[in-house]
Amino acid sequence: MPVFPFDDAHIERAAQLLRAGELVAFATETVYGLGANALDERAAAKIYAAKGRPAFNPLIVHIADTLGAQSLTTGWNQRAQALADAFWPGPLTLILPKIDAIPAIVSAGLATVALRVPSGEAAQRLLRAAQIPLAAPSANASGEVSPTLAAHVVASLGEEIFVLDGGACEVGIESTVVDVSGAHTAILRPGSISEREIATVVGPLSSFSPSQAETSEPRASPGMLLRHYAPRAPLQLFSNLSEAHFHAVASRAERLGVIAFAPTRLDAHCELILPLDAAPYAQKLYAALHRLDGDGKDGEAGCDWILVEDPPLLPAWEGVRDRLRRAARG
Ligand code: TXA
Ligand code: MG
Repeated sequence: MPVFPFDDAHIERAAQLLRAGELVAFATETVYGLGANALDERAAAKIYAAKGRPAFNPLIVHIADTLGAQSLTTGWNQRAQALADAFWPGPLTLILPKIDAIPAIVSAGLATVALRVPSGEAAQRLLRAAQIPLAAPSANASGEVSPTLAAHVVASLGEEIFVLDGGACEVGIESTVVDVSGAHTAILRPGSISEREIATVVGPLSSFSPSQAETSEPRASPGMLLRHYAPRAPLQLFSNLSEAHFHAVASRAERLGVIAFAPTRLDAHCELILPLDAAPYAQKLYAALHRLDGDGKDGEAGCDWILVEDPPLLPAWEGVRDRLRRAARG
């Protein structure tokens, strides 16, 4: 049953499936999400099963507007309101104290819930038609690169899932996750909205070391597994061409894949050039990784090693740099 356009008839069909406790994958402006009724424990359990997602990794709950978000938390506050006013609908997720009606499986047993009002048209129309909050992680098997095209969803999760096709996602990397549940505001996952933009709205942030997510108990953001968003092939970053040539030889790759800002003249099986501009780069990054990686079917290059040119150390590139660091080995 896999991929359908988001016209009225298919939005209605998808909304019915969701109300009946089934899964629907749908386009958002960031990546495709795998949605289920966030107030239905059995429906949410199907997400974990379909993705092979570890039970300690909580889900993001999507609602159509700020009012919907307010109704799901006991702790709405001024910082939440200011950030919602500035960035919703859009690629921002807020962590807030949850109401009891959100089952423990959605929040992975935490007292907080992740809330997001997406701006993507398919997502907005689906949320308004379904009239229920939708728990939705990225629509890929756990640990894989997130989908930014309907075809990526089918390749990762198979033909059984109903997919609402919204074309290529505009933002291309997952939302910025900001914890406003306590006295301090902290960024738990960088995204296209930078730390600087968040701080402009709510003032200075508390520092957060990503490694803390791995070691501290309880986990601050349980989903921040160090190796995540990763293609099957090993991925290495390089900052200049001599380093790239060294890695290319040392890797002994048979089918080398390269992502760079300009042609490298490496002996690559497939080389993709992405723009030196953070927003369009982010939009294309996951599709580039899917294309280089994979099993060589469906136009994938089937590379056995991937070299990626290190993006600039600038605020606009925070989200992209985070994802590449997680995808890289070691
Ligand atoms: O852009 C996005 O956020 C996409 C689209 C589909 O909306 N969704 C997404 O979901 O990326 P997922 O499940 O792949 O990532 C959810 C992130 C994880 O890092 C998880 O740990 C964090 O949100 N998270 C969820 N609930 C949390 C909570 N209560 N406290 C801290 N972190 C939480
Ligand atoms: Mg994910």
